[in-house]
Amino acid sequence: MDREHFEITGLGGRMTLEGILPVRGAKNSVLKALAASIIFDDPLKIENVPDIEDVGRVCEMLEFAGATVTRKSAGASICVVPAQTWKSELNPTIAGKLRASVVLTGPLLARAGEVRFPFPGGCVLGERPIDLFLLGFQAMGCDIQEAGDQFIIRTARGLTGGYIFFPLVSVTATETLMLAAVLAEGETVLANAAMEPEIALLADFLNLCGAHIEGAGTPTIRIQGHAGALLTARGRAFLTPPDRIETGTFILLAALAGKDIRIEKCQPAHLGALLSVLARAGVNLETGSNHITVRGKPGYRNLSVRTHEYPGFPTDLQAPMAVFMTQAEGEATLLETIFDGRFRYADDLIRMGADITIMNPHRILVRGPRKLVRKELESPDLRAGLAYVMAASIAEGTSIINNAYVIDRGYEHI
Ligand code: EPU
Repeated sequence: MDREHFEITGLGGRMTLEGILPVRGAKNSVLKALAASIIFDDPLKIENVPDIEDVGRVCEMLEFAGATVTRKSAGASICVVPAQTWKSELNPTIAGKLRASVVLTGPLLARAGEVRFPFPGGCVLGERPIDLFLLGFQAMGCDIQEAGDQFIIRTARGLTGGYIFFPLVSVTATETLMLAAVLAEGETVLANAAMEPEIALLADFLNLCGAHIEGAGTPTIRIQGHAGALLTARGRAFLTPPDRIETGTFILLAALAGKDIRIEKCQPAHLGALLSVLARAGVNLETGSNHITVRGKPGYRNLSVRTHEYPGFPTDLQAPMAVFMTQAEGEATLLETIFDGRFRYADDLIRMGADITIMNPHRILVRGPRKLVRKELESPDLRAGLAYVMAASIAEGTSIINNAYVIDRGYEHI
């Protein structure tokens, strides 16, 4: 899968795509379920796993920490057999490149009493600190040291429950501390927690396996810790939900280039913010409980959008939304409220013919519709990379998208 570039001959504005697109399992759910396997006493099976690079990397991290991981049928199902003794260190090479790696710190700390890791890498979206994780670990009784480029977190007598108020809403900090708290002694309260549906689904599954988590999917999560008693899957499998960001991107592409596209195996209920803006923009959407049909037509209205934590408009759909906005009539702004550096794609869209003014690091102004033309592009990050795939697909001529690896990290055979 480690390809170097995509070559895409665009439709030049024609809306001719037809067919059925099934959505794969959600990257940002499966990676956390893999991390959760560390707090299990028995093998954990995970189903509907997308065949993407990030899944492979997290499996390697689990193996490095001592687990045995088996993957079946090009990754559709994975089984993690827990280690006898967990190693208290994250694979430094992978952790330095993958933000999701940080989620393993919570469960490993709970199992091994210590965890060492470098500052986590990942898509460059602006500053991505880890202070909220450290604040949480401290509230759970840990000692934190920084030695060279490593963090060392230790607990002398096991994790203890604590009250943790997140000054900012963080998806991975909520997940990491929720997982750690399952094995802590006493109650942990996570306040101003992230409300992503993937978090609630994971909590529901952990509860089936013996955890006591209440309120996941709301801003306050209460976890009654087990004082080290491990969860048991007893043959139950975690079913990865459909990827709502992939779904959203398919909807946006279908609106711009689709004659009649049915997106299947998805959960439209998780995309309220996108569907509401697209309906107001004039996109013809037919929504069922697990499918969406889109029939593209010219003449959408441009509407301003601001990203927000779930259930608001997802920051991960911000770049694909910008491509949509280049094709809608009128001017509107796109305001990014989660990350500091998520408009790195805008200059390339401008080179392709888009009329975009970068007002400041958090806001762009888009005027449409403008015809896009072919260009050679360098994918800056996963989601912006997919926005380039969209832009190239509707543009005139053949575009090249280099650094395709970052797209393969999150999308199966895009
Ligand atoms: N933040 C801090 N301190 C922390 C943690 C976060 O200041 O300790 C800040 C971040 O810098 C950011 C904000 O809090 O400004 C929110 O970041 P969050 O922690 O929620 O992001 P994340 O957990 O690192 C996850 C997804 C991202 C997605 C964001 C927001 C995973 C592995 N990643 O990242 O997904 O954009 O939530 O929804 O779940 C992607 O899939 O391409 C991707 C980037």
